[in-house]
Amino acid sequence: MTNSTDTDLATPVLDAFGSTFGSGTDARVALAPGRVNLIGDHTDYNDGFVLPMAIDRFVTIAFRPRRDRRLRALATAFDEVREANLDRLDGARAAGWMSYVAGMAWAMQSKGMTLRGLDLAIHSTVPVAAGLSSSAALELASARALASAASLPWDPVRMARLGQLAENEFVGMKCGIMDQYAVSCAEADAALLLDCRSLESRPVPIPAGAAVVVMDTGKARSLVGSAYNERRASCEAAVRVLAGSAPAVRALRDVDRAQLDRAADRLDETAYRRAAHVVDENWRPVHMAEALADGDLDRAGRIMNDSHESLRDLYEVSSRELDLVTTLARAHPACFGARMTGAGFGGCAVALVRADAAPAFVEDVGRQYNEAADARGTLYVCRPVAGARVLE
Ligand code: GLA
Repeated sequence: MTNSTDTDLATPVLDAFGSTFGSGTDARVALAPGRVNLIGDHTDYNDGFVLPMAIDRFVTIAFRPRRDRRLRALATAFDEVREANLDRLDGARAAGWMSYVAGMAWAMQSKGMTLRGLDLAIHSTVPVAAGLSSSAALELASARALASAASLPWDPVRMARLGQLAENEFVGMKCGIMDQYAVSCAEADAALLLDCRSLESRPVPIPAGAAVVVMDTGKARSLVGSAYNERRASCEAAVRVLAGSAPAVRALRDVDRAQLDRAADRLDETAYRRAAHVVDENWRPVHMAEALADGDLDRAGRIMNDSHESLRDLYEVSSRELDLVTTLARAHPACFGARMTGAGFGGCAVALVRADAAPAFVEDVGRQYNEAADARGTLYVCRPVAGARVLE
C-alpha cells in the first residue's frame, strides 16, 4: 500500500478475507466510495443535471482469482458467504447483497468481457438504505475486482453504465445513472457536475470555507422501489403529453416552466406537480456549480433550500424526519443551506456549512434532532474523494 490511509482501508477486509479463505497475503483490494448528492434529485432519469460528490465512506473488496468459474463472497456485515457461478448467474437474481456482485458480472459478460472466478470478502462503511449509494458502491467495487482479476482495461464511464444496467435489468431497480457515475468517475476534492444526457461531467471544487455535512435521520428509506418507479412513470406520462404538441421534447430536460404551465390543463394534477419539480430542479445543479465557483456560499445554500421545498411539496418524496433535520440545520448560524438527498422517503439530508464551525454544527444539530425526533440521527462531515480504484 502506498499510504497509511489505504492501509487503514485495506486492513479490515484483508483480515476478514484471511479468516474465511485462508491467508490473504496474495489478495488484492478494490474499493468504491458512497456518494452524497449536493443537488439535482430525480433529474437523472429526466436527462437533466446532477451534482453528486463521492464521500469518504467505502465498500472495500479483497479478492483473489479461483481456478473455477465460481464467485464465493463473504459480506462482513452479515457474516455470511454466498456463491454464484459465472456460467449460471441468473440463479443469483434474488440473492440479496450477492445480486449486486453477480449483477455486475452479468452486465460485464453481456458485453463480451471474459471474467474469472473469485474469492471475495466485502466490507462496507457506507450505511445501507440511507440514500448514500451503498448499492452503486458495491457494484463498482465488484466491477473493479472483476476487471482487475481478468486484466480488463478500466473505462469509468462505461463501467458506470454497466453498473446501471446491472441494477436496472438484474436487480430490478429502475434507477438513473447518477449514483454509478459518481461512484465510478468522481475526482478527489470536488463534486461532479454531470449532464445525464451527454454523460459529460466536470469537477466542481468545494470552496475551502465550506464543509459538506451528511445528516442521517436514522430512519431507513422505505417503499422506495415502488414509489420511485411511480415517480418515473409520472414524468414519462408528462413527456408523452408535452411531446404531442412539441415533438422535439424527448425528456423533461427539454421543457421549461412556461411551456409546462401552458400544457397544465392537458396534464393530470399529479403529473403536473411532478414535472414542475423536475423542470425547476434540472438546472439547479448548474446554478449551484456557478455559485460554488464564485465562492457565493449563501447563494449555493438558497438553491439547496429551494430544492428541498420542491422535493417536499411537488415531488412528495421527503419525510417528517428529513423536514425536521433540514429545518434545524437551517436555523443554525453556520448553515448556508440544507436539503434531503437521493431518492428520499427517509435516509439522509445534506447541509452546506461554514468549515470552521462544522464541528459545532454537527454537535448542536445532532443534539437538537435527537431530542425532537423519534429516531437516532448521526451527523458527520464528509470529504470529497476519488471514484472506484484498486489499491496499489
Ligand atoms: C436514487 C437513484 C438515482 C437518482 C436518485 C434521485 O439514488 O439511484 O438514479 O434517481 O435516486 O435523484
